[in-house]
Amino acid sequence: MLSISAEEFLVWEKKQLSKGGDQQSFDFLLDCIGGISTSNQNFISINPERNLYLKKNLEFLESIWNEHLLSSCPIQYLCGITFWRDLKLKVTNKVLIPRPETELIVDIVFDIFKKKTEKLFFAELGTGSGAISIALALAYPFSDVVATDIDQEVLEVATKNYINSSKQSNLKFYCGNWWSPLEMFKGKLDIAISNPPYIPQDTYEKLPKEVKNFEPKVALLGGEDGLKHIKEITQKAPLFLKEKGWLILENHFDQGEKVKQLLINNKFTSIKIVKDLSGIGRFTIGRYK
Ligand SMILES: C[S@@+](CC[C@H](N)C(=O)[O-])C[C@H]1O[C@@H](n2cnc3c(N)ncnc32)[C@H](O)[C@@H]1O
Repeated sequence: MLSISAEEFLVWEKKQLSKGGDQQSFDFLLDCIGGISTSNQNFISINPERNLYLKKNLEFLESIWNEHLLSSCPIQYLCGITFWRDLKLKVTNKVLIPRPETELIVDIVFDIFKKKTEKLFFAELGTGSGAISIALALAYPFSDVVATDIDQEVLEVATKNYINSSKQSNLKFYCGNWWSPLEMFKGKLDIAISNPPYIPQDTYEKLPKEVKNFEPKVALLGGEDGLKHIKEITQKAPLFLKEKGWLILENHFDQGEKVKQLLINNKFTSIKIVKDLSGIGRFTIGRYK
């Protein structure tokens, strides 16, 4: 730990923020790499005579901040870490940074299966950092969770995140295209969850550079209309779900009605579009017969 005066730190902080960027990203950097939490920062701003303990020196923190400002690379990739629900997750440029709105998927599952001691069988398709699957495996310790992704390097990150978050062994990862690595689990799943790539081609082209230049295309692009992967997942879901098993999909802000129709066409019932905290129909859920 390096000790510096709060006064010196506050002058340095002001200089960094005057170069650009947003306070939230700066606080993230200070917390993750510098070891200074927001409450620490608040404390020193009203007690400038105190000393502060840093995990890394100011030059090092400044070099990361400069890189963030220069390249627009998300601060989470530069720090190699993100926070999601109560998890601290490793992220590399191979995995999507899990979004706050996706956190609600776990609450939707909690609403469906209220008894955490039940023995259920969950699948997540396209796990990325492993965020959703890890949260479910931890919340339902007697259940089994299987998670897939198309990219083995992604699964290596997810596996590390699982090991770092848990001593349990109820989550297994499989590499392959959507349902194909799960052939042996046909007809056995109580619930399948996916936040697949759903951005339509023309929207993808116009994404902000901090997303388009850094986050994996394979995690974002959902074909011409954005629904390519959602269609494939929905069509095959009935083969893998138990009777009355649930499918939960995250979709783009304007895809809810189309996804609902896809679920109807594939004989799902109890279909609902669930809004996120901004009032957007972000999730479509249904039950197989
Ligand atoms: C939108 S990201 C979601 C990641 C994570 N579940 C989350 O919510 O943050 C979609 C994920 O699907 C994976 N993926 C893309 N195409 C796939 C395919 N054909 N089969 C399996 N996974 C795929 C990507 O590698 C990526 O990790």
